[in-house]
Amino acid sequence: MTFDRSIKIAPSILAADFANFGAECAAVEAQGADWIHVDVMDGHFVPNITFGPATCAAIRPHIKGVMDVHLMITPVDPYIQAFADAGADVLTAHVEAGPHIHRTLQAIRGAGMKAGVALNPGTPAAAVEELMDMVDLICVMTVNPGFGGQKFIDVTSKIAALRDMIGDRPIHIEIDGGVDPNTAPLVAKAGADVLVAGSAVFKGGSVDHPDPYGENIRNIRAAAEGVWT
Ligand code: DX5
Ligand code: ZN
Repeated sequence: MTFDRSIKIAPSILAADFANFGAECAAVEAQGADWIHVDVMDGHFVPNITFGPATCAAIRPHIKGVMDVHLMITPVDPYIQAFADAGADVLTAHVEAGPHIHRTLQAIRGAGMKAGVALNPGTPAAAVEELMDMVDLICVMTVNPGFGGQKFIDVTSKIAALRDMIGDRPIHIEIDGGVDPNTAPLVAKAGADVLVAGSAVFKGGSVDHPDPYGENIRNIRAAAEGVWT
């Protein structure tokens, strides 16, 4: 993975056909997705259950680019090696998931992955201030995690504060929740470069009719990039 701050669209397969993940990943990549965002939920840290490392391993061969795995689980540490073995490129843990996020991030990098840290909407930027030299990505939640299709929560001042904190470090700011062509410019302007979108990418399309995926991705990207012109 090379680092740059260009806008990257990361469709969340939480909004895809769960019986057809491989084909859905290939379809959104063919339609212009930059990364594939994979939401792992445990029914404990968040009130919903999705899937675990075995499913990640099964879909990995269907993804050409970056597999971006967002863990909404606690504990994290016992499962890090399993997600490395599954082929995750980026593994993100929540700062709220336990008392030892520092150790968790060390272990993620130690297992050969890029390390991400996620913040819930109620968690301030300062919660990750001491972690700046051990993360590759900061995921700013713009919904309370657990479900797709929720209303965007505006935390643009937190995004801007994180962008300042990052300085010249090669750290991505990823936004997750309620991203669409209306909200993408707000977060891009504040300093985000990776935009996760579930409902807004998959709406109107299917594996057999993937063109809407491409149109949706282009619309989100154009809206985000529009803040620079
Ligand atoms: C929420 C997940 C998100 C979610 C985004 O807990 O982490 O990745 O799928 O879905 P939308 O884009 O529909 O808000
Ligand atoms: Zn997510």
